Amino acid sequence: MALLEVRNLSVHFGGLAAVHDLSFVIEQGERLAIIGPNGAGKTTTFNLLTGQLKPSSGEVVFKGEQITHASVFARTHLGMARSFQITSLFPHQTVYVNALIGLQGTQRSRYRMFRPLFKDKALEMAAQELLESTELWDLRGEIASSLAYGQQRKLEMALSLASKPDLLLLDEPSCGLTTTESADITARIAALGSMITVLMIAHDMDLVFGVAERVILMHYGEIAAEGTCDEIRSNQMVRDIYMGSRKTLGHAR
Ligand SMILES: Nc1ncnc2c1ncn2[C@@H]1O[C@H](COP(=O)(O)OP(=O)(O)OP(=O)(O)O)[C@@H](O)[C@H]1O
Ligand SMILES: [Mg+2]
Repeated sequence: MALLEVRNLSVHFGGLAAVHDLSFVIEQGERLAIIGPNGAGKTTTFNLLTGQLKPSSGEVVFKGEQITHASVFARTHLGMARSFQITSLFPHQTVYVNALIGLQGTQRSRYRMFRPLFKDKALEMAAQELLESTELWDLRGEIASSLAYGQQRKLEMALSLASKPDLLLLDEPSCGLTTTESADITARIAALGSMITVLMIAHDMDLVFGVAERVILMHYGEIAAEGTCDEIRSNQMVRDIYMGSRKTLGHAR
């Protein structure tokens, strides 16, 4: 059974078919990248998968369960996590408090949500573990908004891993990062265990080819090409769409 199955998914904004009749599957443990020019419908697809947006038609099946109309909360608890294209931290809180809040939000027992953050030893230990594993522990006292952009992205990704998701959705995880930071995030994603299935949107082809096993090219809300990295590299349509850009396949509309 595929981990995620997308069947004939469409969404319209007025007259615009932002996503049109999209179908694909992701197997457990797979790393799949979605590429495509600006406005191709990549983020809209993520919004449909995570429940931020309801489709006009089509279905989303996750772990064999029909989740097309399930809430964001229900999907998170089924094992989906998402890191946003635009950062979604609590900017005026410390790194540590962000970790506590992020972890608390993933706890299954709802009454725990009402416990004071600093009176929960298990939560504090989990936050320490999370921050240490992502080399952010030394920055725990810093206010999130004062961190360098690259560190903020790193924290955001750490938080999206807090729920120990089965499926991690990453929307342009290296966007705005320096070359060194991009290489670091690429290595981190590549090093995620096979228990975590990764679906990511990326313009950065070093990231795509460094992480993905399979690539989907979206164009005008549809799948224009699909294949392994090698197949995508040599695909004429990919070249046509991105003509003139050797490394970064974005911003080519
Ligand atoms: N809430 C919305 N209302 C109206 N139109 C929208 C909405 N969200 C997205 N769109 C439009 O749908 C199309 C697809 O947008 P989307 O954000 O999915 O593109 P994308 O592939 O993620 O692009 P980028 O690479 O720039 O992030 C665009 O034309 C966009 O303007
Ligand atoms: Mg987008």
